[in-house]
Amino acid sequence: MRIRTILALLLLLAIFGMSFVAAQEESPPLRDLAEANDIYIGSVAWTQHLSNPRLAEVLGSEFNMFVHEHQAKFCMIQQQRGVFNFTDVDTLMDFAAENNMVVRGHTLIWHSCEPAWLSEGDFSRDEAIEIMRDHIYTVVGRYKGRIPIWDVVNEAIDGGTYRNTPLLRMIGEDYIELAFQFAHEADPDALLFYNDYGAEGLNAKSQAIYDMVSDFVARGVPIHGVGLQMHLQVGETEEGNWLAQENLRANMQRIADLGLQVQVTEMDVRHGGTANERIYQRQAADYRRVLEVCLDLEACTAFIVWGVSDNLSWIRGWDGGNPQAEPLLFNSNFEPKLAYFAVADLLARRAGLEPILSDEEVDAFMGTGEDTTTAALPEPTRSNPAQLAPDPVAGVVYYAPFSVSITLDGDTSDWENIPRVTVDNGPALPANSDTSFSFAVAADETSLYFLAEVQDSQLVYGLNEPVSAWYLEDSVEFYLNTTGNLEATAYESGIAQIGILAANITGSEPPILGGSNSGDSHISVFAMETETGYLIEAAVPLETDAWSIQPRHRATLGFQAHLNSSSGEGRDTKLIWSSNDPDDQSWTNPSRFGQLVLWYKDF
Ligand code: XIL
Repeated sequence: MRIRTILALLLLLAIFGMSFVAAQEESPPLRDLAEANDIYIGSVAWTQHLSNPRLAEVLGSEFNMFVHEHQAKFCMIQQQRGVFNFTDVDTLMDFAAENNMVVRGHTLIWHSCEPAWLSEGDFSRDEAIEIMRDHIYTVVGRYKGRIPIWDVVNEAIDGGTYRNTPLLRMIGEDYIELAFQFAHEADPDALLFYNDYGAEGLNAKSQAIYDMVSDFVARGVPIHGVGLQMHLQVGETEEGNWLAQENLRANMQRIADLGLQVQVTEMDVRHGGTANERIYQRQAADYRRVLEVCLDLEACTAFIVWGVSDNLSWIRGWDGGNPQAEPLLFNSNFEPKLAYFAVADLLARRAGLEPILSDEEVDAFMGTGEDTTTAALPEPTRSNPAQLAPDPVAGVVYYAPFSVSITLDGDTSDWENIPRVTVDNGPALPANSDTSFSFAVAADETSLYFLAEVQDSQLVYGLNEPVSAWYLEDSVEFYLNTTGNLEATAYESGIAQIGILAANITGSEPPILGGSNSGDSHISVFAMETETGYLIEAAVPLETDAWSIQPRHRATLGFQAHLNSSSGEGRDTKLIWSSNDPDDQSWTNPSRFGQLVLWYKDF
């Protein structure tokens, strides 16, 4: 470990580690701080979670609002038509009552949690309306007076239009307002919300939701609020991004101007790969920026996080999720994270109470600097002795063996025993997508070789202008920084983003490439379709006009690998290897790359 790194780590420990412990002992629980701001702070759980005494304690002592994470949904309560099972909901209701928590009902109608008998049933409009009425009357009626707020309809808008759900097909667009009417009839005092994701800032989806709820308000459909789920990715609220504070504020404000409430209903902040100190900082800043906008607005009445501790987050198991994700306020040992203190401190300051962090501590994580403090690298090890280089460090370092000669011919037998990395997560991956890719890199005295094997059931290429919109279609990107300055934050000669389009399957000569300085790479490409997707083998000369890469043991380059995949209507999948680039910034900022280390294969 370099001395500088050790000093930096010690400093971090001194600033955060110690004062956190002190701060936690002194600082009031979040729920007291929230109360002082006249806002609810909430979290969620399954019944299974409650058997963990730490979970139960943190949930009950830190939060004053409770949401059933999954067990109050249609598919859980009414698995068979007409047979209602409230056991789990009641268990959770008891927990909330014992801990003096207000319960937010989630959710009556959601296409993702409808029992098969309903979603696959063949019901007429009238029958489907009757089923909906019966469910809503029974559930809302049972908890009348005990569940004062309901998410009546969840995620019914897709892009700028109505999502094509089973109930939409059976009933028509008015199923949404009918659901609100039934809920209102069942409990006239309950506050009724429409809840959705990806509509927190200003975009086609939030516009469609705004139009729908404005129309409800104008016509007297009983609606009282809009829930913004806020499943974010680290950095999404940073300046210049779609969820920068001014955009979130503008959207919340226009909803408030309709006389409706707004609640942040399911916040979590995910990241690719393994988190590091900088990720925790940016995550804390994201939480704080969202809370700040909410506190600025009287209409924003609740701030709910989707889970208590990282290990219990749905993001870990969610399709395309990240088993190492740490998206919440508490770590897996139920210790408060920087994000927790970022939230607590803002609540304290806003209520005129003693700050919990110092101004310097706040500046340290709210700063937008490109500080990429990472933990020290582990010693390279080889889990398989036949492997020609050490095991890659996930999202951080890839060890490329040399000297290994590769021919670009689609036959991958020459890649045997070269470390292989599978990338199956990134900032965009549709649910149920099976798209992923694996890559490997090797070198000999003249070239760097790249292999990418892509799993993609639907190849989309040749649709876009290769010069300007190449990344909207199926393509693999390898990035290189040969300058020796891995901290460089802008492209210059010696740094290249080499986008290799699946369109190279056609055998185009010269290869079809995209990306900054990709031409400088003088890359040769072989591409072909495979049974499960496509394959790319490529070679980059070590010596070009733009760079001179020394083939020596431990030579280190900046390196990154991405996958773009399209479903035909633009890119819907973005997979990223480097965990230092959770939000797809490598195209503009090379400091987000990971490292490629050449490794003498007999070493
Ligand atoms: C998720 C739960 O967290 C999971 O435990 C469950 O398996 C599936 O549903 N948007 C919503 C929530 O509105 O209901 C979802 O909750 C997460 C996405």
